[in-house]
Amino acid sequence: IPVDLFDLVIFGGTGDLARRKILPGLFRRFCAGQMPAEARIIGAARSELDTKGYREMVREAIAEFGGEQACGDEHLEKFLGQLEYVTIDARGDQGWKELQQLVVGTDRVEAYYFSVAPSLFGDIAERLQKWGMADDEARIVVEKPFGRDLATARSLNKTLATYFNEDQIYRIDHYLGKETVQNLMAVRFGNMLFEPLWNSQYVDHIQITVAETVGVGGRGEYYDKSGAMRDMVQNHLMQLLCLIAMEPPAQFAPDAVRDEKLKVIRALEAVAPYHIVRGQYQAEPCNESENPGYRTAVENPRSRTESFIALRTEISNWRWAGTPFYLRTGKRMAARSSEITVVFKDTPHSIFGDEAGRHRNVLSIRLQPNEGITLGVTIKEPGPGGMRLIDVPLDMSFAETLDPDHVDHVDAYERLIMDVIRGNQTLFMRGDEVEAAWAWTDPIIEGWEARNDVPKPYDHGSEGPTDATELLRREGREWRKVK
Ligand code: BG6
Repeated sequence: IPVDLFDLVIFGGTGDLARRKILPGLFRRFCAGQMPAEARIIGAARSELDTKGYREMVREAIAEFGGEQACGDEHLEKFLGQLEYVTIDARGDQGWKELQQLVVGTDRVEAYYFSVAPSLFGDIAERLQKWGMADDEARIVVEKPFGRDLATARSLNKTLATYFNEDQIYRIDHYLGKETVQNLMAVRFGNMLFEPLWNSQYVDHIQITVAETVGVGGRGEYYDKSGAMRDMVQNHLMQLLCLIAMEPPAQFAPDAVRDEKLKVIRALEAVAPYHIVRGQYQAEPCNESENPGYRTAVENPRSRTESFIALRTEISNWRWAGTPFYLRTGKRMAARSSEITVVFKDTPHSIFGDEAGRHRNVLSIRLQPNEGITLGVTIKEPGPGGMRLIDVPLDMSFAETLDPDHVDHVDAYERLIMDVIRGNQTLFMRGDEVEAAWAWTDPIIEGWEARNDVPKPYDHGSEGPTDATELLRREGREWRKVK
């Protein structure tokens, strides 16, 4: 179903995110018939390009980043025909009048994507207002990082609030746009089976792992100032934690969902230093030039920034008190794998005696790749050997179970941009949520900075530093293998 007619202005329209994600994503939506034929995408950036040059740049971006297979050349030409370009100075006057002439006075949905450094948010917002583009109907989209601590996030929120109402601000966390992340809510709240068991009485602990095989690549400068805590935990892992732990919202509606997420974040316990393990990846042996270690990659031989973090926290509320939540994320790990694992408690009594062995139900929700759900159940080991118990997986891989049309994924960015046009904020972070997440994150970071903590080295392609294994082992638990 096509969305309403829109003009989408992309500030930073020649940048990396626009070329890799936003524009190829929009093309795929175009191919799917979701983008109206009269809708316009207006790139706005510093580069001295004209519309023709911009269209060529986008053609190349689509060829390079995978949008092209979506549909044929004819469609591509039509799509490119819907693009415009304005050379703009975010801190000056150049280009603003031209932009104004393009977008003001139409009765289209107007959306402005700030795909630029946060230091420019204020300048752009101010100019949008000055040139009459910040009316009550306009929507703005802002990217992470939304600040680097509570103070900067507050100040960004304050700046944006000068020009826009909260219901006009769409803060992207692309994890919320992932199909399987939304599926988390469907699994929890669309089934009777899980919810009665979803609490500290039945759940022993929960693990959230987002492991990556990539290193910091060409983003060393940004990454070395952020680290895994700011880059991944404060946002993506926090969102996953919220969705897995929140109370059922009354409706799947923006504030109903965001209110519940906020309560989870506010109930998170402070994390003790001995519940945190930070690591830095080492070079790949015998292939150092291609896969250097973290410090070489970021060109900072004394860097103390973490490319891996594992931590244990708890949620102080009625449902979860006493249940550990273990979070872990890192680069250059053994496999690309994002998984949430709910480990249930032992049965209260084994009627088969201790020799049969004790087993636990484990529900594992695999977010990427190979999305699916596995429920480990205990059965009798087949054969005449008496009553011995074993675990078997009840396995559902979405790709195998569902019609391929249903697993032909809509990329997170595509979905989220279409939600902006539809005016649906459910999958976007509210200002107070982001601030609460920083309020929990800040003391953790301040703590290790004050201790001069040095991250532990870990092998390329591993599960992270051995201390991370110990974090669970000393509590009689084990991480699920990264595979
Ligand atoms: C980004 C982080 O937000 O998410 C990157 O800045 C990370 O460091 C990326 O690699 C992971 O996203 P995905 O969709 O590949 O899991």
